[in-house]
Amino acid sequence: MNKKILVIYYSQTGQLTNIVKSIMAPVIEKKDVEVVFEELKPIPSFPFPWSSDEFFQAMPESVKGIPCMLEPLSVDDKADFDLIIVAYQPWFLSPSIPYHSFFKNEKAQKIIRGKPVVTIIGCRNMWVMAQEQIKQYITEAGGFYAGNIVLRDKAPNLLSLVSIIRWLIKGKKEKHLIFPEAGVSQQDIHDAVRFGHIIYEAIHKNNIPQLRNELIKARAVEVQPQLIMLEKRGKAFFHIWADFALKKGGYGSKDRNFRLRLFKYYLLTVLYLVSPFATMLFFLVSPLRRKSIQKQIHRYQQ
Ligand SMILES: Cc1cc2nc3c(=O)[nH]c(=O)nc-3n(C[C@H](O)[C@H](O)[C@H](O)COP(=O)(O)O)c2cc1C
Repeated sequence: MNKKILVIYYSQTGQLTNIVKSIMAPVIEKKDVEVVFEELKPIPSFPFPWSSDEFFQAMPESVKGIPCMLEPLSVDDKADFDLIIVAYQPWFLSPSIPYHSFFKNEKAQKIIRGKPVVTIIGCRNMWVMAQEQIKQYITEAGGFYAGNIVLRDKAPNLLSLVSIIRWLIKGKKEKHLIFPEAGVSQQDIHDAVRFGHIIYEAIHKNNIPQLRNELIKARAVEVQPQLIMLEKRGKAFFHIWADFALKKGGYGSKDRNFRLRLFKYYLLTVLYLVSPFATMLFFLVSPLRRKSIQKQIHRYQQ
């Protein structure tokens, strides 16, 4: 009997769509697998490129998990999928807003119940905290987390920060001065095809329980331990800032722009002044913390 895979995705710039296309290419070719794609369509759509104010408007809802409206899902909720793939991007160390809407949607929860779910992430480089929340969403919907694939921008942290801001706020993705092209490299997107072969083998051989480890072996999830502490601290502070902004109104409210601009300056200060010292400190003390770092890598790879 043919196997069925559902792929959920949303992308503003097309980057995540290209990642999904590359990974799924070898699976689509197979005659014994049917792949159904479901694109999430927020109402109204999020802007791209963003203005600075629009960009920070998305922080409180991303962090607090407040959903936006979505066009109704077209997938049949009685369809019985053998595997569900959720491809998403983190926003502010959290799942992007459309995925809060997806996981809180009754139809989506029905489709996920009792099914294995693989995640695909297309991000800059900070995805660990967002993934913890997605795992929780999968469990709450009664699904089984079956593995992860992470594609990230491999340029140095502070350079990729400048290039991604330029991309998302000015729409300019290309290399500029010392700043590399923004986003996940074309080569990494191209090479992601190997994960599709692994997914096909697992589904073809009824071997989904092994998929998570097979993906890890293929270097699908590379954890950068120096960023974990930054993410953990950052997420805790983001919650405080999100509550502070939400007191002035919901998504799009101009009344909260002042508080969100304060958040912007806080964030830039932390990223440019505090994070280099935190990273240096991490590498200085890491020889003394080898075991606990290994434990963290293992935990978040899973
Ligand atoms: C509002 C916003 C916040 C973002 N926050 C993060 C983040 O916390 N961590 C990260 O690695 N990337 C972050 N990114 C980058 C996205 O995860 C993603 O890689 C980029 O937006 C391109 O995705 P697309 O396929 O939707 O166009 C953010 C992007 C946006 C628009």
